[in-house]
Amino acid sequence: MDATRIEEVVGDFVTLKKRGVNQIGLCPFHNEKTPSFTVSAPKGIFKCFGCGKGGNAVNFIMEHEHFSYPEALRYLAQKYGIEIEEEKPSPEQQEAMDEKESLFNLSAFARKFFEEQLHETEEGKAVGLSYLRERGFSLEVIRRFGLGYCPDKWDAFSQTALKNGYKKEYLLKTSLSKEKDHMIYDTFRGRIIFPIHNLSGRVLGFGGRIMTNEKKRPKYINSAESEIYHKSKVLYGAYFARSPMASQDNCFLVEGYTDVISLNQAGITNVIATSGTSLTTEQIKLIRRYTDNVTLLFDGDPAGIKATFRGIDMILEEGLNVRIVLFPDGEDPDSYARKYRPAEVKSFVEDQAADFISFKTKLLLSETSGDPIKKAKLIKEIAQTISLIPEPIERTLYTRQCSEMMQVEEKLMVAEVDKLRRQRFKQQRLTSSEKEQLQDPPESPAEKQTAGPYEENHTQEKELIRLLLNYADHTMVFEVENEDGHIEEMPVKVVDFVLQDIREDDLQFDHAPCQQIFDLFAEKRDNDKLPGRDAFTQYPDNAVRELAINLLATKYSLSPNWEERHKIHVVGEEEDLKPRVVQAVYAFKLRKLEKMIDASQQLIQQAESDETKDDEVLMRLLETIRDLKIKHRMFANALNRVITK
Ligand code: UTP
Ligand code: MN
Repeated sequence: MDATRIEEVVGDFVTLKKRGVNQIGLCPFHNEKTPSFTVSAPKGIFKCFGCGKGGNAVNFIMEHEHFSYPEALRYLAQKYGIEIEEEKPSPEQQEAMDEKESLFNLSAFARKFFEEQLHETEEGKAVGLSYLRERGFSLEVIRRFGLGYCPDKWDAFSQTALKNGYKKEYLLKTSLSKEKDHMIYDTFRGRIIFPIHNLSGRVLGFGGRIMTNEKKRPKYINSAESEIYHKSKVLYGAYFARSPMASQDNCFLVEGYTDVISLNQAGITNVIATSGTSLTTEQIKLIRRYTDNVTLLFDGDPAGIKATFRGIDMILEEGLNVRIVLFPDGEDPDSYARKYRPAEVKSFVEDQAADFISFKTKLLLSETSGDPIKKAKLIKEIAQTISLIPEPIERTLYTRQCSEMMQVEEKLMVAEVDKLRRQRFKQQRLTSSEKEQLQDPPESPAEKQTAGPYEENHTQEKELIRLLLNYADHTMVFEVENEDGHIEEMPVKVVDFVLQDIREDDLQFDHAPCQQIFDLFAEKRDNDKLPGRDAFTQYPDNAVRELAINLLATKYSLSPNWEERHKIHVVGEEEDLKPRVVQAVYAFKLRKLEKMIDASQQLIQQAESDETKDDEVLMRLLETIRDLKIKHRMFANALNRVITK
């Protein structure tokens, strides 16, 4: 953390320009034309004032690269040449990790072997490379996707791997090799190799294509499921499409390896493939990490259309938006991209992309040929798909569109969609009655009442913490009368003023993260120290860290009073800190008092409605309220003086 410089970490991905003490750039997390993404080197944080994302260097890497916390730490450690001592795992964990790592290592070795075979051996060049070149693949995409070639010998790869110390056990577990009658042989022999990467670029498995048209042997062979390769969770090309998917906020979903590669060559880089298996929800969730928009590119053959229908429903059900491009019969994206120029391919997918209703209607309407019964069936079919959309607004819009296109009354369409949704809910409820039992009982009206009339957003608490985080060690000068009646200047640090004032009255914060930050200040200060900003921006607890980062990144006072009553925005608030801090403390206390008054009033109401009401209790409560109200007025006046001074 000490070695990490936020501006360097972010600078690897975002072009930053200096703007005052900060640096700004275009936010990598949402589309913008004018920069609102701010990096503060002294504070060690980033914050986008457009989309609200913010955090420290680790958070940036996690968010940008979709890494887990440990992965992000490893990335930073590597960037700054720091060795990480990992906690010693248990023997079982170690064994599992070793096994996974061994499978990864072997896969990396295999990828390199296959690639060398393709580019550097006579057989590879004559058979493999020439096949790929004939298909029109450029050397550049062949290299980018790490394509390779496995020699057409019984065990060329297996023997090389064994000689290099890779265990037979792992050769079989990755299904790179197979065993028969104690003989080991290469699974992919005589095939073009397509390595399959995970999101951080490690190879998990392979696809292998034969180079002939013979029908006896399968066109592709793929790695079997293994400890590291789970087909249902992987999308081919996702590693290369990560950034383009996010920056273009769309992805093209195709069927095959060669479709991905050809489209890349045509300059369309946000492409991923299901690789012949049907789309899974896990794969859709993976897409959602980058974009909410999917465009399906499928063959116009019956199988392709069927796959498209299923895909549409699944994508909509996960709450993503879907559009569809059907290729002319007999063409797939790869063959199309080979026939036409890149610009033509691009405009084809852009012009043809249809929303799912137009797509289904166009496709099926011709089949109905004016038959009302068939038409009704089609309407029901589309209503079925619409009913899967979780967002009510989108569902409504699609319902309207469908009723227009099919020329049925919107009311009828709405009724049909609602009916289907009710049916589905009923089914779900029947199958998950336990789930229902686990649900919280509905909030009782009494509980609602005690929540008080305010919308609680802890503004006052946060403002106080914001001032602490930003200016704890700044000095404010107070004028005090000394023993001889002279006025003397007394410097007080912001942190000491706040701590003393809050602790004096033994007040607690309602917002737990605020209390945690306050406690950390108190604890350090009692030892005559001050916590650095890092202590908060690197804080392990998410809620605390996020709050600290947000408050550090906030440009102005959170309290509306200040800006409003001063009519102007005070630019350098550190130059005018004292009234702000004093005001924040008063406002905090005032809010506390308001809450206490509220609570007491509740108690009085209860006591009054109580059958066995105790007059003495009631009296005491009324007294409490009176006291609180007096205090409240005092503070309100004091606060007013500070504000209007
Ligand atoms: P296709 O038959 O459309 O192949 O299968 P393709 O991708 O267009 O390949 P080329 O252009 O003929 O070389 C689509 C995908 O289905 C999987 C592969 O992932 C393929 O890319 N598939 C296909 C298999 O796994 N095994 C097969 O035998 C065929
Ligand atoms: Mn093809």
